[in-house]
Amino acid sequence: MVSETFDGEVDLGIIGGTGLYHLSCLETIAVLPAMETPWGTTSSPITISKVVGHQGHLHVAFIARHGLNHQFPPTRVPFRANMAALKHIKCKAVLSFSAVGSLQEQIKPRDFVLPQQIIDRTKGIRESSYLNDEGLVGHVGFGDPFSKSFAKFIYQFKHLLKNGDEPCTMHFSDDITVVCMEGPQFSTRAESRMYRVLGGDVINMSVIPEAKLARECELPYQMICMSTDYDAWRENEEPVTVELVLGNLANNGQNANTLASSIIQEMAHNLPDFMKTGDGLRESIKMSISTRPE
Ligand code: ADE
Repeated sequence: MVSETFDGEVDLGIIGGTGLYHLSCLETIAVLPAMETPWGTTSSPITISKVVGHQGHLHVAFIARHGLNHQFPPTRVPFRANMAALKHIKCKAVLSFSAVGSLQEQIKPRDFVLPQQIIDRTKGIRESSYLNDEGLVGHVGFGDPFSKSFAKFIYQFKHLLKNGDEPCTMHFSDDITVVCMEGPQFSTRAESRMYRVLGGDVINMSVIPEAKLARECELPYQMICMSTDYDAWRENEEPVTVELVLGNLANNGQNANTLASSIIQEMAHNLPDFMKTGDGLRESIKMSISTRPE
């Protein structure tokens, strides 16, 4: 009988994207009903799993970003509620998965990417801060939006990715950049070419405001981008279609499960420093709140 409550501390929060609604590698110990927060209700119930390792128990929480029935389009995802809930249950880091389009030839559909930079091309209509209320003014450092320590931790498992019997590549370097667009339509060919000129490597509809909110919650955050298509920039090729994207999601879902399983087992075996120390983010918000001088 799976419990609806959990009063322990969670170590890792995972946000699953399109095509990833649960992680079959995990054994569920509780399913918390969708959590109500001051910023709305989380997009799905929160599944808590326990993994046993050398350092005792590691607890993992999983939220489906778009809802269990994929009912929230990117613009309507309750991003603030999701991140606040993960903070509330005391996650020490957040691992996020997202389907992306590739803006570079060498990033093939079914490859995975660990970006370290973001270009925000959303339309400013998403609630993207906890610090927007009158009387609460803060400016948060966002020069390095991802946790490089977390990315390095993930990268050690790059050899696990497969496309049938063939290997897939995991791409990781300091300047790999994810462009975030509003959607729900995909880009025009001209926009897609422009993003390449701007330095984009992959494109999605979710990393903003998720990464901003993780930073405001002082949580180390890394997104694993799972390439599903070449977007629309390639000449003589059909622009991206929903069918094309869906076709690659199953393979990516399998790789995400394999990868998550190894990441979590390794964390249970030996909790990485960035989760013990907060990766330099702990108490950072205190320094970023500006109040009226007395
Ligand atoms: N998600 C998956 N493929 C995408 C694309 N080409 N553009 C934006 N988001 C995506």
